[in-house]
Order: sequence, then structure tokens, then C-alpha cells
Amino acid sequence: MSKQYEQEIRRRRTFAIISHPDAGKTTLTEKLLLYGGAIQLAGTVKGKKTQRAAVSDWMEIEKQRGISVTSSVMQFNYDGYCINILDTPGHQDFSEDTYRTLMAADSAVMVIDAAKGVERQTEKLFKVCLLRDIPIFTFINKMDRESLNPFDLLDDIEQKLGIRTYPMNWPIGSGRDFKGVYNRENREILSYGDEAGSALGGQHKLQTVKATLGDPGLDGLIGAAQHQTLADDIELLDGASYDFDLEAIRHAKLSPVFFGSALTNFGVEPFLQDFLRLTTPPLPRRSDAGEIDPMDDDFSAFVFKIQANMNKAHRDRIAFMRICSGRFEKNMEVLHVQQDRKLRLSQPQQILASEREIIEEAYAGDIIGVFDPGVFSIGDTLCAPGKKFRFEGIPTFAPEHFCLVRQVDTMKRKQFIKGTTQIANEGAIQIFQELGGGMEEVVVGVVGVLQFEVFEYRLKNEYNVDVHMQRMPHQFIRWIENEDLDPNTLSLTSDTKKVQDVRGGRLLLFTNSWSIQWALDHNEGLALSEFGKAK
Ligand code: G4P
Repeated sequence: MSKQYEQEIRRRRTFAIISHPDAGKTTLTEKLLLYGGAIQLAGTVKGKKTQRAAVSDWMEIEKQRGISVTSSVMQFNYDGYCINILDTPGHQDFSEDTYRTLMAADSAVMVIDAAKGVERQTEKLFKVCLLRDIPIFTFINKMDRESLNPFDLLDDIEQKLGIRTYPMNWPIGSGRDFKGVYNRENREILSYGDEAGSALGGQHKLQTVKATLGDPGLDGLIGAAQHQTLADDIELLDGASYDFDLEAIRHAKLSPVFFGSALTNFGVEPFLQDFLRLTTPPLPRRSDAGEIDPMDDDFSAFVFKIQANMNKAHRDRIAFMRICSGRFEKNMEVLHVQQDRKLRLSQPQQILASEREIIEEAYAGDIIGVFDPGVFSIGDTLCAPGKKFRFEGIPTFAPEHFCLVRQVDTMKRKQFIKGTTQIANEGAIQIFQELGGGMEEVVVGVVGVLQFEVFEYRLKNEYNVDVHMQRMPHQFIRWIENEDLDPNTLSLTSDTKKVQDVRGGRLLLFTNSWSIQWALDHNEGLALSEFGKAK
């Protein structure tokens, strides 16, 4: 591989931002984009209440509900780095989408509301990060408001998430008394000036003061009482907290913690600089042919997301893929491993804030969106012709809610099948059929109930099909692992339903865990699994 390729790959940083809704993920993303000059003015990423134009709100339903359903990808350059931010939906009903997006990231930034600490959704998303052992950076946001005690916040992260923390900086007060942060490495105080607080932020120059704790001169800047508290806190931290350990950070054992305020743009740039320095360039990926090195000459990628209707006027479908090795060129021929066929990747796109633009080339670490005529599924691998391996699969979440769905107008059978299958291929829903049954009536399973709404809405809007949806009482799904077992011979409780998935796998739907146990107790040798086969 040429030096220039290597350099391009080495300067890439690809990460996802996760948070509980309202912790400030969108605001932080917005400010990060500002530093790359990717957007002119903060506030254009998403305006939930003001209904401003939105980058991440592609679907109508997102605007109506004021939540971010889909995740978007944004690229910008900063200080010699090429940064890919993967935005993730905050709403819990779409955590499966977040999970897949995290598969494409090399690290994660976890945004926590300083007044609330670790919230439920953060906990759930954090567990997904841990599955991949990617570095996790914590941004404790909203320090301009009254916050919990910083020691309690660290304790909360360590207790609830089971990860050690290393505060990179330390807050001096909070809310009205917020004076800034103390950088532990260079012993400087970044002062939260009087001008801070503007919603646009970033326009004012922040004062940096080299601080020797105990120097009476500091009293003038932050006040004698806060100076004393800071000195005590730092002494305590230096003595009692974990040591800085880059290896532990890189393996998700230690999370560097930054305090700041995204809204007022306080502490965002120092965070970005440290983050870029500490996180990793593109990492090798596991495949059935061993680890694939990003510096490998040959192109390879996997599909982690399929998004329909990003542009309503074109009714298009975009397959998002993460490039894992080599370099991508427009119109290049690749092997679609799962389908064992060669294809040309035409119209490759990259999302740059609100604009989509056609790209000529991209490198390992980048995310590209490719026009999908219906050939891609989540988890598909693409390789240079001549190579043939599959990246590790993306397992599906077990759905927890089910609906019996049929079309209202039977003349629309074709559209119904097409729409349902395509939406299932995107991974937004999972579809099942009666054993030996057809597609006239399907069982739709979802992880979060809001997905039912999106499904119904999209069938109507994109495929012109009205459906009748009937909620089912089932909550648990189990795949039958015994290949040669005839499910009709099983002895089951009367409310257990037998279905099959699109790959022919046989499953059982249960209304409660008691019925699962009943099935196991009454059918010797029956083996049930919670996960479908990874694609
Ligand atoms: P999310 O993507 O994680 O859901 O959160 P988002 O950035 O949309 O932020 C949620 C709310 O918190 C927004 O207010 C936002 O302005 C506010 N916020 C974000 N960061 C900070 C911060 O550092 N300090 C303070 N004080 N507030 C912050 P909103 O009124 O709900 O929405 P909007 O009308 O401002 O968009």
C-alpha cells in the first residue's frame, strides 16, 4: 500500500455518539461539526421544538414526533484528521439501529446530563459498546446548569456501567457558580467567561489560565472558596482515582471523562482535541478468514444500515457500508459475497451535514452510502474481486412485540409483499410466517413498538398499501435449534405460536416465560435459542 493511502487511513476517526434522549447528543454533534466548518451555524442539525430544517430527521414521522428515528453519518476535517460521526437514534424503540451503527464505529462518545447521571437508555447502549470492546469517552454535559456532585457522577458511571473513569478535566462549580474546568494534564484552567451562555456559542474567546493551585492569584479568577474546593478535589483525585492508562482506554476498561457544556460550546474543542489524540484510527475487523487489516491493499466493506426514502423525490434506498480495508473508487467493481455476484458501486454518496454529495474515493474507516436497487441486506460483505470472506455477522435483537398484519385490499398483494420484505431487509422489523403458510398474512416482530408505527406509515406512504394490524399477546421468541425436528409434533401450551423466518428457521412465540419452561419440560431434547442466525 502506498504511503499516501496509509496516511489517509491513519488520519481517520470514526465514532458514534450515544446518550439518553435530551442529554445533549444533538447539540454536541452540532458543535463538533462547527469546528470542521461543516455547517455554518449551530442549530441547523435539529431543532426539535422549533421545527427547523434537520439533518438527522429524514423521515416525516421523525419530524412529527420530534424524535430521531434514523441515524445519519457526517464527515468533516479538523486539524489534519478526517472525522466520521455516526449519529444514533436516541429513542429506545430504535436501539437495534443504534446497535448496528455501533458495529461500524471504532469508538463511542457517551453524553451524560450532569444533573441526571447515567440514565436507562445510556445503560442499554453502553452494554452494546462493551460487546465490541471499543473505547468509550464520556462527556458530562450541561455544567452551566445545577449538576450533581462530580464525584457522585463518576461513582454513578462506575457503579451502573462497570467501567473505571479517568477525569481529564474537573469542573469548578456548576450552574450559576460554574467558573470553568481545570485540565489535569496541563494544569490549566479554562475559564467560563461572562460572555458564555450564548446559544450559538463558539463566538467568544475563552480565557485559559495556567493554574498553580494554591496561588493566591487564582482567588481573583474563581473565588477563594471555589479555589479551595478545587484544590481539595484535585488532591483527592490525584490520590484516589485510577491512573491514566491509554491501553485500558483503548480496550474499554477505562473511560476518559470530560466536563463541559455543549449548548454554550464550553469545553467542546478541548474535548475534541483530546478525543482525537486518544482514540484509535480504523481497527482491524474480524472475518471468517481471520482479521482484516485496514491497511490491506484490497477494498472490503460491510453493510450496517439500509435507509429508504432519504430523498422523497427520488424514492431511493441507500445501503450504508463501512469500509474496513483499502480504498474505494467510484464505479469500482466488487464482489457481493453473500450473493456471490460482482457488482459496480455506482453513485457512492457521503453525507456532509445537510448535503449529500457524490464521492470519487473513500478509505478504510469511512462510511459510504450506495444506491441500493434491492440487492443489499444488513450484514452483507463486499470484497475486491478475487477475495472472498465474510465479516463477522450482525446478530439480530430478539423482537419483544408482535403484530399479525394483513393487507386491507387483497389486490395489493404484490406491493404488500414487496414493501414488507424491503422494510424487513432494512432491519427495521422482522417478519415471520405461519409454518408452511404464505405471505397473505405475516407476523411482524419489533424491538420497540414505535417501529410498528413507522412500518404502517411507510407501507402506506411508500408502497400505497393499507394494512390491518392486530397486536398479539406474545412477548418471547425462541428459535428451534434441532434441525430435524417437526415443530408440529411438539407438545406446547395452547397460546404458543409456531412460525418460520424468511431463512426457513423455525421458531416459537411465547406469551410468557412460564410457557417456555413448559415447552422445555415436555419435549425432551428440545433446544431453544434467543438469537436468530447472524447474517
Ligand atoms: P439529544 O439529542 O440528546 O436528545 O439532546 P439535544 O441536543 O436535543 O438537547 C436536549 C435539550 O438540552 C435541548 O433543549 C438543548 O438545547 C439542551 N442542552 C443541550 N446541551 C446543553 C447544555 O450544555 N446546557 C444546557 N443548559 N442545555 C443544553 P430543548 O429546549 O429541549 O430543545 P431546543 O428547543 O433547544 O432544541
